[in-house]
Amino acid sequence: MSETKIALVTGANKGIGYEIAAGLGALGHRVGVGARDGARLETAVEKLRAAGVDAFGVPLDVTGDQSVTGAAELVERQAGRLDILVNNAGISGEVGPGWVQDPTTLDLDVVRAVVETNVIGVIRVTNALLPLLRRSTSPRIVNVSSSVASLTRQADPDVEIGPIMAAYAPSKSFLNAVTVQYARQFAGTNILINAACPGLVATDFTGFHGPRTPEQGAATAIRLATLPDGGPTGSFFEDDGVIPW
Ligand SMILES: NC(=O)c1ccc[n+]([C@@H]2O[C@H](COP(=O)([O-])OP(=O)(O)OC[C@H]3O[C@@H](n4cnc5c(N)ncnc54)[C@H](OP(=O)(O)O)[C@@H]3O)[C@@H](O)[C@H]2O)c1
Repeated sequence: MSETKIALVTGANKGIGYEIAAGLGALGHRVGVGARDGARLETAVEKLRAAGVDAFGVPLDVTGDQSVTGAAELVERQAGRLDILVNNAGISGEVGPGWVQDPTTLDLDVVRAVVETNVIGVIRVTNALLPLLRRSTSPRIVNVSSSVASLTRQADPDVEIGPIMAAYAPSKSFLNAVTVQYARQFAGTNILINAACPGLVATDFTGFHGPRTPEQGAATAIRLATLPDGGPTGSFFEDDGVIPW
């Protein structure tokens, strides 16, 4: 039997994050369920426990310094270390008709909010949890990104990449770039860090439009969270393999 790992998933109360937590739990891992709303957190933990997952709640708003510090302290009290961190929490920011964010009329507060959650939030959470990850024999970090962040695909007129998302897509490109910086910093250590695209998934985020289920959307993140030693790092994956930057 494989060793029980300790995982933390941010934004795990619903959607893809919930299914990442459920999937890691089904593998026998102990899962910290990160969520910013107390009631939604409790409901998710109860549902996961009813499904047989060894879950514990972690109040966690990725935009709050105190909240994130408190989350790290709670994980330390609960488990003493962390093996897997999945930075899943993310927002699109306000969108116009057709799910468009037009760069020429963009509200700067939308840009700030999206970057604060999707990029700065990930750095805040990762750095707060890093001391606990360093106690693991095989730490894994997964940043949930999106293929719409691929500059290569956006620059290719033959690739259908969806509507213009002038706040959201660049925030995930930024996240990808940050992921590479972490991978460079972790070179020569046992920490593997990668970005994952879930595909187009029917969740609150997409107004429940999209061909994929949250469970399908969770699969790549779960695979990257459970990579063997010596596995890839500093890369960007979807179900079919590597996504070009
Ligand atoms: N759905 C897709 O097609 C798709 C495609 C590509 C990438 N993604 C990415 O996948 C991830 C999950 O998206 P989803 O589709 O599952 O969306 P979702 O159902 O809207 O879930 C988003 C989760 O993030 C949480 N969250 C948002 N802001 C937060 C904050 N400041 N602190 C803590 N948690 C916060 C939400 O909590 P609340 O419930 O409290 O709001 C919720 O749990 C996101 O990073 C998204 O960008 C999704």
